Amino acid sequence: MTEEQRLERLTSILKRRGVILPSFEIYGGMSGLIDYGPVGARIKRKIIDSWINHWMEQGDIVEIDSPTITPESVLIASGHVGEFNDLMIECLNCNSVFRADHLIEGVHENPESVNSNEMDDIYSKNRIKCPNCQEIGWNKSKPMNLMFKTEIGAMKSQRIAYMRPETAQGMFMLFPSLYRHFRQKLPFGAIQTGKGYRNEISPRQGMIRLREFNMAELEYFIDPENPPLEDLSKSSDQINFIPDPESGFQNISNMTFHNALENGMIKHPTVASVLLKTWLFLIKIGIKGDKIRFRQHTTDEMAHYASDCWDCEINGEYGWIECVGIANRTCHDLELHQIHSGSNSLKAWRDFDEPQIERKKIISPITSIIGPQFKGEAKFVIEALKELDFKNINFPLLVETSNGNKVEVTNDMFEIKDIETTISGEWFFPHVIEPAFGIDRIIWHLLDHSYKEIKKEGEDYSVLTLNDLVCPIDAVILPLFDKDGMGKIANEITKKANLLSGIRVEIDTSKSIGRRYARADEIGIPWSVTVDHTTLEDNSLTIRRRDDQIQIRVTIEDFLINLSNKTIHNLF
Ligand code: ATP
Ligand code: GLY
Repeated sequence: MTEEQRLERLTSILKRRGVILPSFEIYGGMSGLIDYGPVGARIKRKIIDSWINHWMEQGDIVEIDSPTITPESVLIASGHVGEFNDLMIECLNCNSVFRADHLIEGVHENPESVNSNEMDDIYSKNRIKCPNCQEIGWNKSKPMNLMFKTEIGAMKSQRIAYMRPETAQGMFMLFPSLYRHFRQKLPFGAIQTGKGYRNEISPRQGMIRLREFNMAELEYFIDPENPPLEDLSKSSDQINFIPDPESGFQNISNMTFHNALENGMIKHPTVASVLLKTWLFLIKIGIKGDKIRFRQHTTDEMAHYASDCWDCEINGEYGWIECVGIANRTCHDLELHQIHSGSNSLKAWRDFDEPQIERKKIISPITSIIGPQFKGEAKFVIEALKELDFKNINFPLLVETSNGNKVEVTNDMFEIKDIETTISGEWFFPHVIEPAFGIDRIIWHLLDHSYKEIKKEGEDYSVLTLNDLVCPIDAVILPLFDKDGMGKIANEITKKANLLSGIRVEIDTSKSIGRRYARADEIGIPWSVTVDHTTLEDNSLTIRRRDDQIQIRVTIEDFLINLSNKTIHNLF
């Protein structure tokens, strides 16, 4: 089977079996939007739950949930209104519009780093053809903001808003609440899963480039002068790294995260530890390790908010695709939100190791002289004197008081004093390390890596080898016949199993046992459990293992206990 045939077959199975389907199909569909059907929605739920558990196990991370509609002011401050653009280009002949960097992928090494003028040059020099009409001839490329614009409210009270392009801003908005929750102690993190929206110019490659997609992001807030240091040497996994060519490091396919940090290829300890945890999550859900690599952004490719960025790319039917972006966002967002909003609640407090003594000179008004002299106005004169710069005092000295009067102050009315203050710490903007996961791209690659075609009795037979953590349904119960009480027993087992915590079981009574096994295999159900005549005699069932079709017999009770404990594997 060619790669193309494999892709076609997988896509068709996913549609037929209710995993992933084009949205609004009866109205002709809409590119960049997909549905998760009954099987796909369950896989998505389990992946998101595993992702949440993966980060929350760390103990210093909480989950939040914020609106998808975001007022314009927030996204002006974050830089998204000004800078969240892709270059688009329009064919002069057929008016089709494309993302400009996508059509130069074979011509330029790093298309995302190309600016508008360079882009136009590359198009004319390389005589790039329109993929739609095959003609050569383009309008000038221009940036298009990727956010969906909307309005909140009606008439004069209407305000501009956008559908969020990332969930991250929700975590920044809640920083004061998070800081209180964690008793004013860094480091800590907040995760959020939910929809992100981007008006992608030319969505393509199935569910890789969507206009509404599922994001899962962590914002991990740290003190940049005192970042947490984790022992990464506990992982000996050998990783494929592609550093920025300008960093001086070479591509390498067998280095641990620990060594990559030690030798300076990964610059920041928290970035290294987030890269490791990203890797561990992907391996845990079943992505193949030899199909994962970490690629560092070049300086001109980096998002407007990042000082360093690594993409976790996964290899599949569409080549290497970014599925997670891991960025050092520094204090970009908190600082800009503090400036734009005028709030002063986005900083954290850092105690100095040793209290610091600050010495300064101040003007100290002599109230016993000022009081009798200025009477009711004395307090305004005292305030005005305290505001003066002691280095720039000339006589005669006229000071303007806050009630608007100018009065003359003589040199016997104040003294210049040396004072010492003890300072125990300072306010600063925390830095943020962020892994941004695209759940749909991860699901696609998981399905791609799990999909196997097996020849059985001359026929092609498809299996999704999804592991227990992500399989849509934990087991399917198959009564051999509905008669003689087999259907009733199967229903009872299904009900009991579904009461077990975290377990989902379905019953399938349609067509031959062989056809039912095949349907279960195609959607990745690990255990097919048959109720047959022997069940009526001794309460035993047949459990068939999806991955090698081996069957064993166990009692109903043992099946339920082991299903609940996720230990059915041990029975084989
Ligand atoms: P790309 O370069 O492919 O456009 P990006 O650099 O814009 O991706 P990020 O802004 O880093 O992506 O977004 C974080 C993650 O969200 C990505 O790693 C990806 O998995 C996912 N993602 C981004 N855009 C889309 C999209 N249009 N459809 C599906 N997933 C997306
Ligand atoms: N929050 C990171 C991103 O959307 O790229």
